Order: sequence, then C-alpha cells, then structure tokens
Amino acid sequence: MIYLKTSEEIELMRQANILVSRTLGEVAKWVAPGVTTHKLDTIAREFIQDNGGRPACLGYGGFPGTLCIEVNEVVVHGFPSNYTLREGDIIGTDCVVELNGFHGDTCYTFAVGEIDPKVMALCKTTKESLYKGIEACVEGKRIGDIANAVQTYCEARGYSVVREMCGHGIGKKMHEDPQVPNYGRRGIGPVIKNGMCLAIEPMINLGSRNVKIAADGWTCSTKDGKPSAHYEHTVAMVDGKAEILTTFDYIQEVLGDRFI
Ligand code: MF3
Ligand code: CO
Ligand code: CO
Repeated sequence: MIYLKTSEEIELMRQANILVSRTLGEVAKWVAPGVTTHKLDTIAREFIQDNGGRPACLGYGGFPGTLCIEVNEVVVHGFPSNYTLREGDIIGTDCVVELNGFHGDTCYTFAVGEIDPKVMALCKTTKESLYKGIEACVEGKRIGDIANAVQTYCEARGYSVVREMCGHGIGKKMHEDPQVPNYGRRGIGPVIKNGMCLAIEPMINLGSRNVKIAADGWTCSTKDGKPSAHYEHTVAMVDGKAEILTTFDYIQEVLGDRFI
C-alpha cells in the first residue's frame, strides 16, 4: 500500500529530513583517523535527541545503533563499534530520524584522510548516480525508470549494483511501499505520483555485486571484500517533480574542499 502524503504531511517530512541532514553534518565534524564508529554514533544520537527527534534505527528490529556504519567492504547495516577509523578507509553513515511522527533518511559515504583514487571515483560515481535517479523521478514515470537510471550510470563506469537491498517509500514508517531498486528495466513498477515520498539509495560496488550477511544477522558486506559506496536522499513528489528533502549542504560546509 503506497501512502500519498498531503502538503501538510510533506511539510512535516521536510522538518524530519532537515534534522537528519543536520545530524550527518555533525557526524562529518568527527570523521577522522583515530575516531571510533561508536563515537560517531553517540554524536548522532545526542544531536537528534537534543533537537527533539527520535533516532529511529536504534532498536528497530533490534538494531543497536543510531547510525548504520559502513566501513570499506560493508555495504549496509553495520553496527557502531570500537573500530578505530584509519587513513584510507571509507565510511558510510546512514541515519534515520523520526520527528513529529514522520521519518527522514539519509546516508553519506566519507573518505577518511587520503584514499585510493579508485575508491574516490567509486564514491563520486555512486553519489552522481543518486542524482541521476532523482532526475528520473518524475510524475507519470515509473519506479523502474529511477532504478534503470542508477544502474546504467554505474554499470557504464564499470561498477556493479547491489540487488539484495533497495530504496523505499518513507513517511509515518521508515520503510513503506514501494520498494525502489537500483537496477531494472525502464517503464516497469508502480507509477510515480504527486505526494509520494521515496528514499533513493544506490549501493554500488567496486568489484562484483554479490553480498553476504554476517553471523550478527545484519552486517551486509561484499563477498569479494572490495569496497562499496552508499548515498541516500529522501525526496517528495511535489508539482510533478522530486523535491529533495534531505541535503548534503551541512556536510559540505564541514568538509570544504574535501567534499566530492
Ligand atoms: N537507513 C536504512 C535505510 O536506508 C535502514 C536502517 S535499518 C535499521 O533504509 F535497522 F538500522 F533501522
Ligand atoms: Co538510510
Ligand atoms: Co533508506
């Protein structure tokens, strides 16, 4: 069941999504060699709570963090831990906030110090593919058009698309219908309508597309151990177009010329 949001509900979505975007701006200040992922998680949780939000991942199906932590080969759903970031790592931080009954969901993959140019190129392409997906998100087109835009952009550059994990509808619940895959044919899937709110989130691998889930039941990593990148925006369909409700502007302010 796809819930179309009213303009009042979309206004509440905007507020939740600004808060989650500001949260990753706070996290950005701390990403550096020597910092534990647990520290990043604490920064995010305290910032959300200080601003009247609820860290929606914490306790969701038993998930133990405010942030999903995605270091190097981890694709999604890694736990915060005492792992200490090292120069050359990449780290995705995926965060969901509930505010006034609505959810905001965003993810950004950071470079820790200097990283391999091949990994930097993976991150750059993944982020660009997110915007390609958003451009394809137009009233009257279909979810498959978003999926195909992401897939063709990434595969043309030699990367592979994770298939087991998808974007999703979002609203009063973190995960609503429809699923938004990052691969597939144009013209298939649900028709995109005004009032839809979607989390679009390409998960793109440097090596093969295959993934495995760890014994903890959550941590999803590449099978070949090569790096994976992940960026996510929440959008709302307003006047036929996708309005991006999250923003990386707070991250950009912190990173300056380290923002890619
Ligand atoms: N933020 C993730 C997504 O993009 C979901 C987090 S799962 C949770 O859909 F268990 F951590 F909440
Ligand atoms: Co997310
Ligand atoms: Co999401």
